[in-house]
Parts: sequence; C-alpha cells; structure tokens
Amino acid sequence: MDDLQVKSKKVEGTYKIFDEIAKNYDFLNHLLSGGIDKRWRLKLVKNLPQKQNLVVLDVACGTGDLSIALTSSPMVKKIIGIDLSTKMLDIGKEKILKLHLGKKIDLQVRDGADLQFESEFDVVTIAFGIRNFNDVPKGLQSMYDALKTGGQLMVMEFSLPKSKILRAAHLFYFRRILPFVGNLISGHIDAYTYLNKSVEDFPYGDKFLKLMSDAKFQKLKTVSLTGGIATIYIGEKLVD
Ligand SMILES: C[S@@+](CC[C@H](N)C(=O)[O-])C[C@H]1O[C@@H](n2cnc3c(N)ncnc32)[C@H](O)[C@@H]1O
Repeated sequence: MDDLQVKSKKVEGTYKIFDEIAKNYDFLNHLLSGGIDKRWRLKLVKNLPQKQNLVVLDVACGTGDLSIALTSSPMVKKIIGIDLSTKMLDIGKEKILKLHLGKKIDLQVRDGADLQFESEFDVVTIAFGIRNFNDVPKGLQSMYDALKTGGQLMVMEFSLPKSKILRAAHLFYFRRILPFVGNLISGHIDAYTYLNKSVEDFPYGDKFLKLMSDAKFQKLKTVSLTGGIATIYIGEKLVD
C-alpha cells in the first residue's frame, strides 16, 4: 500500500460529513473563499473543449454549483451530477428547480469511485471532491472509463502556492482562521478542521499529474488559480 492510500484510508466515508454540514455548505463556501470559488468555476467552464453538444458528468457535485455554472456554456447539452451525500444533492435539486434547469441537469446518488459508466461522457468534471475519495487511483480509473475516447477530465482541487510569502499567509488562514470560523458557523465539531488537513495531505501539482498519467490520461495540463491556491488539472482519454 503506497503513502497516498495510507493517508486516504483516514477519510473513508467523508461524504457523511457533508450530510451533516449540507445546510450551511453554500453560505460557508462563499464566505470562506471570499466569493472567489464562483470565479474558479467559471474558469473551468472557459477551459471546456470547444465542441458542440457536450454531455458532462459532474462527479462529487455536492449542492450543484459547478453543474449550474456549466449550463452557462453554449457548448454544454446535458449534465449528470453525482454525489454520495443525499443532503447535499437535495439542496442542489432545490436550486436547479428554482433556476428552471431541470431539463439540463440531472442529479443522482452514486459513488464517484465506482461510477459504472462506460464511454458515455465527453467531459468529466470534479471540483473539490477527489481528495475526499477513499481510493483516489480507483476514482481516476472510474472517471477514465466513464469518458468517451477523445473525452476530457477536468479536476479542480485546492493546492498550495509556490510563492513562500503567499504560501505562509495561505497556510495561516487555512490552519487558524478557516477551521475556527467553519466549525463555529456549521455547528460541526471538526468538519472544517478535516478540510484543512485533507488539503495539506493531498498530492498536488506534479504528484497529482503523475496519478492522472498512471490512470492513462494524456495531454496533461494545469491552470493555476489565484496564485496556486487551487489548480485545474486537465487530461484526455485518447485510448480505450
Ligand atoms: C467539498 S464538496 C464539493 C462539492 C462541489 N463539487 C463544489 O464544488 O462545491 C465534496 C463533495 O464530495 C462528495 N463525495 C465524497 N466522497 C464521494 C464519493 N466517493 N463519491 C461521490 N461523492 C463523494 C461529498 O459528499 C461532497 O458533496
């Protein structure tokens, strides 16, 4: 068992934490990121493949913010959002109903690490979800299988800035301020302490690209967000 699997064993069943914080998730997300998460999602949308009628699978879609942002692209025809937390999905369904997007977005309960889709999607997206998986390589493999040949995986995940000053400031915020405010407002004893630990433990940059390459993704590239606080990793499925 390699280092990554040992670390990820600790987070088995973390979707259950999201059931407990679902009610406050959107509010805290926008508060703790200063609203920047909305811009990050739109940046991902800008990097979609330039093809018509894209059918997109949004893995670990949570309350559906990325699924909803994806509808702003004229290239996107249909989105299936999946997540294991029924409470997060319920909030997503309410938002989709209010926005009259029910024909375009379909939310389903499903395990991202065992998707059981075969070559069905043009694009698979996952935002701030993969670090919660118990088995990251298995999750990447499952997403690979879900893509059509020529399809594109887009992973958005927290990372750490390269600049020493920015990194120190960011770590201070992540270790001291975010867990305190997050746990206080969510009423959960340690959900947001888990968030900061899961980000620091998770492989980012070249280490994450290596995991994508091991899962057979090719034409790998990254888009750095806000000085490296988050990164979009992009790879293509070129062979079956
Ligand atoms: C931080 S939230 C991200 C939600 C959304 N993508 C966003 O950008 O706001 C992480 C989500 O991953 C989901 N999750 C964790 N493990 C999962 C799994 N094995 N399969 C599907 N979803 C999972 C959680 O339930 C939670 O909704």
